[in-house]
Amino acid sequence: MPVPDKLVIHGGRRLTGDVRIGGGKNTSLPVLSAALLCDEPVRIENLPDINDIRVLIEILRGLGVRITRDGDDAVVDPTRLTGTSPRPDLCQKFRASYYLLGALLGKVGEGTVSYPGGCDFGARPIDQHVKGFRGLSAEVEEHADFVTARAKALQGAEIYFDLVTVGGTINVMLAACRASGNTILHNAAKEPHIVDTANFLNSMGAHIRGAGTNMIRIRGVERLHGCTYSVIPDQIQTGTMMIAAAATQGDVCIHGCIPAHMESLSAKLLEIGVRVDDQDDVIRVRSLGGHRAVNVKTQVYPGFPTDLQQPMSSLLTTAAGTSIVTETIFDQRFKHLEQMIRMGVRANVQGRVATIEGVPGLIGAPVVASDLRAGAALVIAGLMAQGNTEIENVDMIDRGYERIDDRLRALGADIRRT
Ligand code: UD1
Repeated sequence: MPVPDKLVIHGGRRLTGDVRIGGGKNTSLPVLSAALLCDEPVRIENLPDINDIRVLIEILRGLGVRITRDGDDAVVDPTRLTGTSPRPDLCQKFRASYYLLGALLGKVGEGTVSYPGGCDFGARPIDQHVKGFRGLSAEVEEHADFVTARAKALQGAEIYFDLVTVGGTINVMLAACRASGNTILHNAAKEPHIVDTANFLNSMGAHIRGAGTNMIRIRGVERLHGCTYSVIPDQIQTGTMMIAAAATQGDVCIHGCIPAHMESLSAKLLEIGVRVDDQDDVIRVRSLGGHRAVNVKTQVYPGFPTDLQQPMSSLLTTAAGTSIVTETIFDQRFKHLEQMIRMGVRANVQGRVATIEGVPGLIGAPVVASDLRAGAALVIAGLMAQGNTEIENVDMIDRGYERIDDRLRALGADIRRT
């Protein structure tokens, strides 16, 4: 058995210099799944080399999709599908495997997908995905371990989501773009990856309007043609680097990002006392310390992203005063703070609210990454701390961050993988 990787960080160094952001995880996963819908090969550029993408490629190959990877790019040929039931053990490795259900339903009118895995931060139902598929006239059967959806002919419909869901909006959009007639998605999510997935589908000839607003209109089309598409840079990786720069009192230029996607974070960093400047596709984050406590409440886009709540709370652990962090999207997304108590953090979690009392500094300790963004939060805490922090369960971090250790080392961090 190979010994799992650990990250060992000797903290206390300022991050300085330049870093380039890769393609977005949360946008590459639906884009790659959406490629299934096409009737010709497509070329997708700027895919990150992360575990979730590798697993999705393996699943798609198992369904008969031919995929040739060439660095950050991939040519996906979905013209000879041989199956409609992706491998359950692989689907259980990550959340976004649920997109295969919408894509298969749209392409061939049926799919059987096991319940998705991914980060465990409380209940993550898919009832709104199911509601949307049923709205498009699919028959959906929910079993203990898997879901089957079938439709002789998908029919466009008006669908009202009971709550704003990123995954649900994308999944129903995937199926609806091959349904006959018009679909309107009400109370749709507005995240950048929804816009990116819609742009990709439109580049293949789909007819989707309004992505990025809470009402998306889709006119179904009979076929989708090949295209070349480049996925947008990773919003959460950008944010993680911005927070890491601030937390180490550093001076970092982040290249190849979209500053408009980062506004809620940039505004919070300014409130804390960090300087943030942007120009074109570059954000510069500078800090001289003296951070002030702030309150953070996660919201759907364009509010503060839940995926940055965990990294952000690391920064707040040494901000002067009391910060209140409220997680409105998921019910158990504070597991990183339990670990950080070992590093001298003073935090109290009551349900969805964490109260963080700023301390003068953190001390390195052995910790375990419970989920992807918790792992990123622990890396940032390790960079802030005096002494050594050893992070276990690095696989979690590799699910969503491409070579995080190499990127941070290039900025001056003392971090190594053992
Ligand atoms: C997606 C992202 C995840 C990110 C999260 C929030 C992917 C694959 N996953 O997760 O990385 O952390 O958005 O940005 O891109 N809900 C329901 N019923 C549903 C669907 C969702 O009740 O059918 C609830 C969820 O439990 C949650 C909220 O709605 O409380 C938002 O969920 P959603 O936006 O769908 O997030 P995920 O798709 O789980």
